Amino acid sequence: MAATIPNDEKLWLFFTLPQIITFENIISTNLTSFPFLATLIVLYFLGLFTWAIFSSPGGPAWKKGRNHMGQVPIPSPKGLPVFGSLFTLSHGLAHQTLAYMAQGFGSKQLMALSLGSTPVVVTSDPEIAREILTSPYFADRPIKQSAKQLMFSRAIGFAPSGAHWRLLRRIAASHLFSPRRILAHESGRMLECTNMVNAIFKEQVLHGVVSIRKHLQAAALNNIMGSVFGKRYDLMNGEGNMSHEAKELDELVKEGFELLGAFNWSDHLPWLKHFCDPSGIVQRCSSLVPHVRRLVQLIIDEHRERRMNNGSDASENSDFVDVLLSLEGEEKLQEDDMVAVLWEMIFRGTDTIALLIEWILAELVLNPTIQSKLQNEIANAMESAATNSAIAKLPYLQAVVKETLRLHPPGPLLSWARLSTTNVSLSNGMVVPKGTTTMVNMWSITHDPNVWDNPAMFNPERFLHNSATAGIDIDVRGSDLRLAPFGAGRRVCPGKDLALVTVSQWVAMLVHNFKWIQHETNPIDLGEVLKLSCEMKCPLSAVAIPRNCFVTKQYKY
Ligand code: HEM
Ligand SMILES: *[C@@H]1O[C@H](CO)[C@@H](O)[C@H](O)[C@H]1NC(C)=O
Ligand SMILES: *[C@@H]1O[C@H](CO)[C@@H](O)[C@H](O)[C@H]1NC(C)=O
Ligand SMILES: *[C@@H]1O[C@H](CO)[C@@H](O)[C@H](O)[C@H]1NC(C)=O
Ligand SMILES: *[C@@H]1O[C@H](CO)[C@@H](O)[C@H](O)[C@H]1NC(C)=O
Repeated sequence: MAATIPNDEKLWLFFTLPQIITFENIISTNLTSFPFLATLIVLYFLGLFTWAIFSSPGGPAWKKGRNHMGQVPIPSPKGLPVFGSLFTLSHGLAHQTLAYMAQGFGSKQLMALSLGSTPVVVTSDPEIAREILTSPYFADRPIKQSAKQLMFSRAIGFAPSGAHWRLLRRIAASHLFSPRRILAHESGRMLECTNMVNAIFKEQVLHGVVSIRKHLQAAALNNIMGSVFGKRYDLMNGEGNMSHEAKELDELVKEGFELLGAFNWSDHLPWLKHFCDPSGIVQRCSSLVPHVRRLVQLIIDEHRERRMNNGSDASENSDFVDVLLSLEGEEKLQEDDMVAVLWEMIFRGTDTIALLIEWILAELVLNPTIQSKLQNEIANAMESAATNSAIAKLPYLQAVVKETLRLHPPGPLLSWARLSTTNVSLSNGMVVPKGTTTMVNMWSITHDPNVWDNPAMFNPERFLHNSATAGIDIDVRGSDLRLAPFGAGRRVCPGKDLALVTVSQWVAMLVHNFKWIQHETNPIDLGEVLKLSCEMKCPLSAVAIPRNCFVTKQYKY
């Protein structure tokens, strides 16, 4: 009963209740169907009335002492009957809410909650995170219905760990993400960047301010298209018309992102699907899939034809499609698997890179001293004719990228959760039951004052380890869980090296060619919105003052 709720649980209520009450989450699912809303409202009030009496630690998915299987029970804030903590996590900044809950509840190591009928554990502790991510018993992923419908179940990210997944990872590692391949695509990457710099310059001249997101997305999409399909589009040409195919692809990627990022109530409340499809997602998925299949199939057929005509010489500039087509015997992929894998790469490689660069630029605008220090470092390197690969490794540039990954991890909950495949005992005495969705709250770790000094401050110097500064030299690629924005263990992001090189090289170009300053009427807002990734709520627009003769030479206005 309310009067007897211990303090820590009141704290939890304090953080979650306002969000439950606003109903913003329900509205934001584009509700078109009244019965659904009515059902929810009735159930919600029913839930609220019975909360004090019937709520159980952890919520409905943790009944029968499932959180007590080890010597140490997994702490679990009380969850509403039926819904558990669904309202808390279905919208908004789940990573922040979870971080406050874990802190208020004293359950940073592990916290058990229910998303409807789905049991979930979350950790905000680097040690436990390392144990989970590197454990072979957490090597599967829970798969959402929309992912299944969008054909992702056979792609790398959602395939259960097994022979098929290992094969795909191996192929991708050696033909798409190996250092040799990354280097081979450098000219394409720099070409994309040059086009972007020119387009930004043009927009600045025309409008006096630049909305950067569309430029970044176009460049990132084209860059991935180049390395995966061996195909580039003139996305942002001056006349403003893309090729039909490029436009279609662009729209498909956006729609796919929305669908996969959309919260599907029925993923967690299985009975709901008998009533309605609240977001109309099923229908949108089923109309998206044939489009994707046709488009990707077209490109595969083009490659196949070319191989037939010219013979299949595995030349250096063969792209990922050529590689998939050249597989023989055991390794040969079915047509549908191939479509899924190719589609996944485009899908993942585009948005993450664009939104990370957007965060970096926003921080650089807000911190002009850091920006000019970075510009000096790059100018010095350019003067001594450093190669692009050398520039990507410049220490201050690296520190800026790392610090942005720390303050704004694109996947704050390491978006792609893991699934326990057996009852797993952790070193702290807790046991995670089989079939539990397991998340690492990377945002919580990277904002924890016990882990980072002054965590809210943007301070790249903290990563500089030299005679002048005693920063920590940390590898962000998964070996140190204090900052592991790409995950860790055998399911770590395979695109991490490609992502880091691309982001570093493009940021170097963007700050070398422009001085980025705040626009008076569009001040920068660092608010976040959590979709499939965590992006800036208000897309960045800033003034880009050309500061290098390189650009101005090409345009005569
Ligand atoms: C800033 C950029 C990126 C970030 C922050 C990021 C982050 C992540 C994270 C956190 C995971 C889950 C790791 C885990 O469970 O331990 C992941 C998985 C994955 N990422 Fe990335 N990623 C980025 C860029 C890319 C790029 C450019 C590609 C490909 C072109 C890519 C492809 C994948 C794939 C295929 C997986 C699934 C791996 C598996 O399940 O075996 N990522 N990424
Ligand atoms: C949402 O989940 C339900 C039940 O799991 C499923 O039938 C439906 O297809 C899903 N919708 C989407 C778009 O994923
Ligand atoms: C772009 O659009 C203009 C006018 O709308 C047209 O004249 C031109 O041919 C188009 N270019 C391409 C490549 O389609
Ligand atoms: C294949 O042959 C055609 C026609 O001779 C040529 O245009 C094309 O560039 C060739 N492709 C490759 C990959 O060599
Ligand atoms: C997990 O533990 C539960 C309860 O102790 C037990 O009933 C179940 O058989 C175990 N499952 C596995 C796969 O070990």
